[in-house]
Amino acid sequence: MPLTTNALERLILTRLNLAPALLLDYFSTLGFRAALVGVRLGVFDALEKGPRTAADVAEQLGTDPRGTESLLEALTSLQYLRRQGDRYANRPTASRWLTEARDPAFVEATRFLEMAAFDLWGDLEEAVRSGRPVRAFYPWLEADPQRSATFQAWTLWTARDLAPEIVRRVPLPGGAQRLIDVGGGHGRYAAAYCRATAGLSAVVFDLPIALRSAEDLLDEPDLDGRIQLQPGDFLTDELGAGFDVALVINIVHGLSEDENRRLIGRVSAALNPGGRIVLLEQFAGRAPGPAVYAINRLLDLTYHLVLKGRTYRFADAVGWLTDAGFGTPKRINLRSAPGASLATATKPRSG
Ligand SMILES: C[S@@+](CC[C@H](N)C(=O)[O-])C[C@H]1O[C@@H](n2cnc3c(N)ncnc32)[C@H](O)[C@@H]1O
Repeated sequence: MPLTTNALERLILTRLNLAPALLLDYFSTLGFRAALVGVRLGVFDALEKGPRTAADVAEQLGTDPRGTESLLEALTSLQYLRRQGDRYANRPTASRWLTEARDPAFVEATRFLEMAAFDLWGDLEEAVRSGRPVRAFYPWLEADPQRSATFQAWTLWTARDLAPEIVRRVPLPGGAQRLIDVGGGHGRYAAAYCRATAGLSAVVFDLPIALRSAEDLLDEPDLDGRIQLQPGDFLTDELGAGFDVALVINIVHGLSEDENRRLIGRVSAALNPGGRIVLLEQFAGRAPGPAVYAINRLLDLTYHLVLKGRTYRFADAVGWLTDAGFGTPKRINLRSAPGASLATATKPRSG
């Protein structure tokens, strides 16, 4: 958990300015690293079975007793664990999210957070100086299947709660038969719509290595061969035609204004009259709270760092969509991911 302050510490750091507030950021970063090490070593899984002493945990994990005790104490101070006497136990946030037993998908997804924070963010100063990513993100991922899988594990986890909400809140046009998931990666949004809609089949369009994370969908019995994977570059390769629905989920932040205009125009051309586009983003602008606002700004910096992209405003998406011939876009703020919104719009049947 991020370092929290009491009233006296806040007075010292902010009102009296007697110590650099930056030190809180520094120690929060160390806390993040300590929590990740706890995850990797299996500390939280070891404590799932009940309160244990540091010596017990060290024996089970085969780790150094003194190092283990120090790690457990740090994780206790950060409120991942609690200690009673000499026994440590998981707090609910550790138990729910940081154990293989309860949430293997999030545990896997933390590998991307680790890669982003401790590898990619090393390029930040250079990217801000030059205005160019030091490593172009998607080519960098495509060059290494393991890296690509790590990134897809993160987006896969974010899709877990978002996909059901999107399917629930955005009905497809009546009689929809064909969907394209543009930059669909793992393909879970396409799969969720197919599962909810009899007779719907889907194309997941993405770069070749990214599509490996969708291959398991091809054998899912309930999808009955209705998912097809199409490798290609969505800015230059043929998308196909005759679709009733196009998903453009978490894509536009990675592209320039011009590229977005081009992409939305291509998507519009691939849709039938009456077809619907469903675009998801963390749009810039008002946020429900200071943490979501800071997350949104740090995402903007991340997009600049690795993609030369940005968090766009909803009004930007409205412009691209209406210029591409869609009817008035509708905004839907999502409950399962605070700060994330959909822009949906329909292609007119005539004109
Ligand atoms: C942020 S991920 C979003 C994945 C998925 N739509 C989701 O929201 O979970 C962006 C996806 O776009 C794909 N992508 C990026 N540039 C692309 C391009 N030029 N052509 C095709 N796919 C691309 C990436 O491989 C990645 O899977």
